[in-house]
Amino acid sequence: MKIFLDTASVSEIKTANDIIPLDGVTTNPTLIMKEGKDYVKTLKEITKIVNGPISAEPVSLDAEGMVKEGKEFAKLHKNIVIKVPMTPEGMKACKVLSKDGIKVNTTLVFSANQALLAAKAGTYFVSPFLGRLDDIGEKGMDLVKEIKEIYDNYGFKTKILAASIRSTTHVKEAALIGADIATIPFKVYESMFNHALTDKGIKQFLDDWDTLQKELKNK
Ligand code: E4P
Repeated sequence: MKIFLDTASVSEIKTANDIIPLDGVTTNPTLIMKEGKDYVKTLKEITKIVNGPISAEPVSLDAEGMVKEGKEFAKLHKNIVIKVPMTPEGMKACKVLSKDGIKVNTTLVFSANQALLAAKAGTYFVSPFLGRLDDIGEKGMDLVKEIKEIYDNYGFKTKILAASIRSTTHVKEAALIGADIATIPFKVYESMFNHALTDKGIKQFLDDWDTLQKELKNK
């Protein structure tokens, strides 16, 4: 499974990418608002760090506006992917952008039927929002399973991008189901490295090394 970072923070992207090269990045207006920086400048910076798809999200709600904004974003770098919402206007924009060779990420997907329509509109990525479904008492991960089954049934090439990830368990379950990508907040990414037994094991090795050094000195 590919791992994207779900952030507009250049410093988080640099930190993560220095450990293991990231497969991509997703951004949205909320994430860029948190950074309080210019969207275009930030996207340009990200393209210099990460060699993979970088999602940028227009704010227009009509297809024409989304296409116009999307084309501007796409001019920034070949790796820019345009996010469109799962609405009829979004799907119209998806069709036009895809025909122009611009990859689309259909966002705010909360049902299998929405994912089916997005695939038929030619979206490159589909983003089911797991955490937001969990928030309303549904099982977000069931949606990923359903989409996977439907896409496999009909051979859709659309990539399943598990989004709105809130925990390391989400990441693991998305990988077990066979999602193509998980886009992960930095905090969750950091937590994926952790295990108490790893820390305990390192401490034990260092303690034993020290003991040996003392024994050798006293010989
Ligand atoms: C995905 O592309 C979105 O940016 C993101 O995963 C939304 O997550 P949230 O529900 O935590 O805002």
